[in-house]
Amino acid sequence: MTKQKLSFDDYDEMINPRPAVCDFDRVVDAGLSRRGFLSGLIAFGSGAMAMGTTMLAGSPADAAARFGFTPIPIDTSNTVTLPEGYNWQVVAKWGQPLFSGVDDVTAANRGTGASQAMAWGDNTDGMDVFTIGNRQILAANNEYIEEAVLLASNPDDMPQSDDDAMKVKAAHGISIAEIAEVDGVWSVVVDSPYNRRIHMDTPIDISGPAMGHDLLKTAADASGTKALGTWNNCGNGRTPWGTYLTCEENFNGYFGSTQADLETPADFKRYGIALESRYNLELFDPRFDLSQNPNEPYRHGYVVEIDPTDPDSTPVKRTALGRFKHENAELVIANDGHVVVYLGDDERGEFIYKFVSDAVYAEGGDTSTLLDNGTLYAAMFNEDGTGTWLALTPETTGMASQAEISVLTRAAGSAVGATTMDRPEWIAVNPNKTEVYCCLTNNSRRGPDATNAGGDAMQAGGPNPRDANKYGQIVRLRPTSADHTKTGFDWDLYVMAGNPVVGEGAYKGSNNVNAGNMFNSPDGMRFDSRGMLWIQTDGDDSNEGEFAGMGNNQMLMGDPATGEIVRFLTGPSGSEVTGLTWSADRRTAFVGIQHPGGTFPDGIEGMPRSAIIAVKRDDNGIIG
Ligand code: FEO
Ligand code: CA
Ligand code: CA
Ligand code: CA
Repeated sequence: MTKQKLSFDDYDEMINPRPAVCDFDRVVDAGLSRRGFLSGLIAFGSGAMAMGTTMLAGSPADAAARFGFTPIPIDTSNTVTLPEGYNWQVVAKWGQPLFSGVDDVTAANRGTGASQAMAWGDNTDGMDVFTIGNRQILAANNEYIEEAVLLASNPDDMPQSDDDAMKVKAAHGISIAEIAEVDGVWSVVVDSPYNRRIHMDTPIDISGPAMGHDLLKTAADASGTKALGTWNNCGNGRTPWGTYLTCEENFNGYFGSTQADLETPADFKRYGIALESRYNLELFDPRFDLSQNPNEPYRHGYVVEIDPTDPDSTPVKRTALGRFKHENAELVIANDGHVVVYLGDDERGEFIYKFVSDAVYAEGGDTSTLLDNGTLYAAMFNEDGTGTWLALTPETTGMASQAEISVLTRAAGSAVGATTMDRPEWIAVNPNKTEVYCCLTNNSRRGPDATNAGGDAMQAGGPNPRDANKYGQIVRLRPTSADHTKTGFDWDLYVMAGNPVVGEGAYKGSNNVNAGNMFNSPDGMRFDSRGMLWIQTDGDDSNEGEFAGMGNNQMLMGDPATGEIVRFLTGPSGSEVTGLTWSADRRTAFVGIQHPGGTFPDGIEGMPRSAIIAVKRDDNGIIG
């Protein structure tokens, strides 16, 4: 049996809230209590009319014709598996040099702070390819690090020196590199002028309503306008003006305190900011020590805009998009030119947001403040399949200023009565239809008496119909009048994951889940140019019990019109499949393999490496 490896999502979920609450939850989880099971069923019954998904029939041959491949069965091995007629290769992996003069990592040498700052970061996540002239530039997030791999020889795999701490910081952030395909083989162009590392010490500008607010001022930056670093970069987005959006997710887990009895502000609890950190960075860099720099956490948890065409440009934290555990940033230009950004906050019982710009986008126009001025909304879902985007303003929230709303955004969402969701992960907008999909990955604690960290009720209902939801679902929103700027919408569930073999009632999943395509914990999601929906999972890959028959984490393709879902790829055991983009000619799909177990991909014992793979058709045909 493969040992489960934790994603940072799972790690954060395990420790937040702190243990006092966990004992109760373990009891609820252990039994999948009868109470929980029954109320889940009731909720499913009342919400059943909202399940707009069409029932499917048809042979595997039909599926192959529609999807362009023959769906594959589950897999539990330590490698990538694809349909017949497809192949894969590694393009970039943790520790790979971006510049000459840096050695690749080996089992004996896992790099230094200096070498890591010139090499590919760890644990790949959201990514995109940018075309500059005839060059292709890959920008990819490095969400967090595998301390057991990077610091394998240290006690408890924890940093012991300033250089260790620098290595941890440099393995986070964003890796940007030119990539090229020669005779069907992709590789990183070492020493390309576009190659760049952005990490936990990189200077970053702060813009938008929170810029210069007192909460953002620190000893190192009395102006509250210049932060150092970005980390736990999870999903991504891109703008039509050619920039990359990277999303700071579990930023909280990096702060600790060298003073054990430190009193912290009440709002820290809502964000899971505690006195212990995952990597002990507070012992080496006072920026991460809450007892020395209590305001540092207010400078993180934002969407950051990066210009990949200019390696000397300073990234910008866009505070107008709110501060929370950002998953991705799906940007779409509305019919009338306004910029609309859909945003998920990945935490049990947190909210879905959208930002609508004040100004409109014009090709070639000034885009420098489009993401600074606008309205931020949080979503409220009604049981009857309708919903409303609730504006977050001083008037609606009772909060002091738009700046405060931009920093304490979760409190603003609670104040207006937004709907507590089952952990919003990636959001994707259908290119062929005005509709928005959001992965709600799971929520083991949803139940009659449960609340989120802000005290908002988390009982089953609406788009979150099941108690103790271990499988997840994908909700679909259709904006009123097919206009992304409108405050009204209709919703249904595109799919409710489940186990039709061992599950009962609502835990069997929706009708478009069957023994042949089942999965749990949908997370990454992206539409391709044809309008097919690619779904990636970050779930339990034990293949046992409630998860029997689901195998390793995987990537599936969904047809938004019919609801049909088929399996395209399975990842190596222990890994999460996350991050998806395409080459300029769409003959290559790049797929991220995060926190693999075993010896993937190099066969080196004790040194699995997160990697981005290139997936191609054997006939070099279009792949999305
Ligand atoms: Fe980094 Fe919520 O996934
Ligand atoms: Ca992850
Ligand atoms: Ca994710
Ligand atoms: Ca996840």
